[in-house]
Amino acid sequence: MQSELRTKLMEALSKADGAFISGQEIAEYIGCSRTAVWKHIEDLRNEGYRVEAVRKKGYRIISAPEKVSESAIQLGLETRTIGKMIHYQETVESTQKIAHQLANDGVQEGTLVVAEEQISGKGRLMRSWHSPKFSGIWMSLILRPNIPVHEAPQLTLLAAVAVAQAIEDTTDLRPQIKWPNDILVNRKKVVGILTEMQAESDRIHSVIIGIGMNINQQLEDFPEELQGKASSLFIESGETISRSTVIQRVLLRLENLYELYLKEGFAPIKDLWESYAISLGQVIRASTVNDTIIGKAMGITETGVLLLEDEKGTVHSIYSADIEIQ
Ligand code: BTN
Repeated sequence: MQSELRTKLMEALSKADGAFISGQEIAEYIGCSRTAVWKHIEDLRNEGYRVEAVRKKGYRIISAPEKVSESAIQLGLETRTIGKMIHYQETVESTQKIAHQLANDGVQEGTLVVAEEQISGKGRLMRSWHSPKFSGIWMSLILRPNIPVHEAPQLTLLAAVAVAQAIEDTTDLRPQIKWPNDILVNRKKVVGILTEMQAESDRIHSVIIGIGMNINQQLEDFPEELQGKASSLFIESGETISRSTVIQRVLLRLENLYELYLKEGFAPIKDLWESYAISLGQVIRASTVNDTIIGKAMGITETGVLLLEDEKGTVHSIYSADIEIQ
């Protein structure tokens, strides 16, 4: 049951109708101290409310939490197979981990795992992925393509195109893709994609595409070390965005591209990917596990491998690396 104090706090904020109301006014309305007000505002934030706090002005509710539960995603979902089965949990270690288990258990292609929060979100190259509650999209999709094992990385590029298209469907932003699968807006990373595979030497059991999208975070929601490099669609567009709508659009775009890919191969996806690519033609530094190569990004091959030409004219094939545009 909601406390009387919480009811009063919500009343005070509702009366302000989206305008600022000072901590003092709220404190008087509720009959508590300003410190107590601050504490309760923090509780609201932890529950997914986005509350702006400005010195000398007070507090203002920007949005109430919107959940990305099965029903929220499925209501209005236009896909045929992707996302028809959804596994939703509010808090998980990592949606990738659950998707691996489900894939092992034999769930159908197109099953989606989605969470409000990940406590050990996994990034590429053994990094962690910051996944705070209610503000982003943390999801993993299970595919079972009948393609050669070495072509699986193409699906990462396909997913990046689908996400870029979905961002364009939802905002006026112009997303760009940094090889292989970072999505940048105004040169800051808003989306990361991690593709993992369960396979034998000659057969894919499943490909698990993990997508992390920064949607409604404010700058201060990011850890300090990410603030110069990462951003959210809210920060870049100034608009609060419905996460379930973005998920529906990503799934629809992904399904359309996946069907095209299974019918016509990688060529049409490669063209689309290149139309969003930020790094082609530019000098970049590729840090691989063993080496660092600096060279001009020439393009990607039919299998999604990045080609870098160094100053001696040698062309290197980059399969996996961290890319910095010089
Ligand atoms: C990257 O390093 O750029 C890839 C980040 C991928 C993050 C997503 S969030 C959903 C899924 N679950 C995880 O633990 N990681 C991926």
